[in-house]
Amino acid sequence: MTDNLTGSDRGKYAASKAALEFIKPGMKVGLGTGSTAAWFVQLLAGKVNSEGLDIVGVPTSSRTRDLAASLGIKLTTLEDAGWLDVTVDGADEFDANLNLIKGGGGALLQEKIVASASNQMVVISDGSKQVDTLGAFPLPIEVVKFGWRSTESTVEEVLEGADVANRRISLREENGAPYVTDEGHYILDLHLNRIGDPRGLAEALNRIPGVVETGLFVLMADTVLVGYEDGNVHTYDRDRGDLGRHKVHMPSKDSLYVPGA
Ligand code: A5P
Repeated sequence: MTDNLTGSDRGKYAASKAALEFIKPGMKVGLGTGSTAAWFVQLLAGKVNSEGLDIVGVPTSSRTRDLAASLGIKLTTLEDAGWLDVTVDGADEFDANLNLIKGGGGALLQEKIVASASNQMVVISDGSKQVDTLGAFPLPIEVVKFGWRSTESTVEEVLEGADVANRRISLREENGAPYVTDEGHYILDLHLNRIGDPRGLAEALNRIPGVVETGLFVLMADTVLVGYEDGNVHTYDRDRGDLGRHKVHMPSKDSLYVPGA
């Protein structure tokens, strides 16, 4: 399993390792979804199991719940936790204002609810997710199944007036059928190429009745940790700006495990 590790995997590992520094005993921790978050969950489980780190996790998807449980992380629900100390999650893109596109893995709704209920959101990423302008990655929006074609038409109308470069919309599919989220909704992927006004677009889309939530996370990330193959991690902080790089210890290739995302 370790033979296929790419530079991107090593970057995700480095960012995840740096994110551990944000986790203190007794914390309630939101656990993100995706391949990067899976590295974090695995490293967190290592600290729980080898050092007795006492934390409780709130997963943002059924996938993450299954992975974290299988690795021995104590879990609870957001209902029981109430409020979280920190959420650590990946992103599909982030810009200089630390605005994000998320939802490539289909978990954007729970991810946004969990991050919104956290004192701090720490985003972990390899270098490929950093962009000048959001939008090359298709923007996912979660829509209710009922009347989804009408919702799509209204989204088209909103896009007509939006500062975007492209306006193609596709219904996300899996195995030839519409992809259904953990909350039982569909996902429309908006192929926009460039999003000139992330906040304005998020607000306009959120006003459409059939739209449950968008994958635009505006002013939600407090910190973005960008990991590189050599173990360097660049820290961007929403309040303090560019905090530069530090290096985390990278184990030998043979002791890295590739977690299921
Ligand atoms: C899941 O719905 C997403 O928001 C992920 O956090 C995002 O797609 C990043 O995934 P990777 O870490 O797999 O790139």
